[in-house]
Amino acid sequence: MSEFCRLVLQCRPGFEKEAAAEITDRAAEVGVYGYCQLKPHDGYVLFTCQQDGDARVVVDKVDFRSLIFVRQWTACGDLQVLDANDRIGQLGSVLDGYPECVELWVEQPDTTEGRELGTFCRKFGSALAQHMRKKGKLSKRKEARNTRLQLFVLSGSEIYVGIAPVNNSAPWLMGIPRLKFPKQAPSRSTLKLEEAWHWFIPSTKWDERIPLGGSAVDLGAAPGGWTWQLVNRSMFVTAVDNGPMNDDLMESGQVIHAEEDAYQFVPDKTVDLMVCDVVEKPIRTAALASDWLLNGYCREAIFNLKLPMKQRYQETVGCLNLISDRMTEAGVAYELRTKQLYHDREEVTCSLRLL
Ligand SMILES: C[S@@+](CC[C@H](N)C(=O)[O-])C[C@H]1O[C@@H](n2cnc3c(N)ncnc32)[C@H](O)[C@@H]1O
Repeated sequence: MSEFCRLVLQCRPGFEKEAAAEITDRAAEVGVYGYCQLKPHDGYVLFTCQQDGDARVVVDKVDFRSLIFVRQWTACGDLQVLDANDRIGQLGSVLDGYPECVELWVEQPDTTEGRELGTFCRKFGSALAQHMRKKGKLSKRKEARNTRLQLFVLSGSEIYVGIAPVNNSAPWLMGIPRLKFPKQAPSRSTLKLEEAWHWFIPSTKWDERIPLGGSAVDLGAAPGGWTWQLVNRSMFVTAVDNGPMNDDLMESGQVIHAEEDAYQFVPDKTVDLMVCDVVEKPIRTAALASDWLLNGYCREAIFNLKLPMKQRYQETVGCLNLISDRMTEAGVAYELRTKQLYHDREEVTCSLRLL
């Protein structure tokens, strides 16, 4: 077996090329070179490094939070082809060469075929975890605390076995936070904003960055899925959209509906948070968000960049570069984070704030 020569990179099915372009760039930044293998709509990419061990260099040195299209990663070796009669025994001997781990996650591609493996993954995971605990390979010891054993299951007999640092990988299985759709919310896109908060704002900072009783502007708000999340945080919201807002939301008394153009709207005073879900050219929204921060209209912005059909990675990088250039020119310290969320479709979501 080649030791930690590969990375399995999970992504939204259909975005394999973007995930491949991204990992190739980011690995090169830490001196790791390799090649990608992918099939469109498989929901993952395989990156094979030129040198054994280099997959661990990538997961240790590249900041996972900086990845946009990669939802989860695993540093692993070759694909394990297992005999259905003795999977645990075979994997047990492979794992002898692995470091001690604190937990075991069994993941699969986020595709129809992948989801059919869910029950197998759960059962196999609990049997393997028991076996590993007995062998002392799963433990709470200090040395094991930051290493998670991750299996990526392609079928009952084909499994990538690898590891990921707990503090530098997705904090949810398959990189998908399990969020419950709130019945009262007027649109499904409500979960985009909630998911963005989970990715971008540490739980200890929610009260500071999305303060109860705070103020927000929602650009392109109708019918009000994102506004609903803000109101649910007891925030006071100006919802900017020419379209109609949900009646129940308006009755909350916390929303003012401004029937104006999102790209012309100026708030009376600085708000805690601006959010924007307008379907527009992404470069225009990127410029709008940086204007809001630099003009002092808001303390933080969360916005969606709707991607074109082609050159989606290049388009995203172009938008992020525009924001970085503007912030740098203005001489301000800022944080810009971008992720293609589980609830995003042909789009990515960004968070921009001054530090
Ligand atoms: C994807 S929808 C927003 C959905 C909303 N975030 C929700 O959760 O219910 C985009 C909205 O942007 C609005 N819109 C498009 N261009 C706009 C503009 N220039 N100014 C204001 N609103 C705009 C549309 O009317 C539409 O309601």
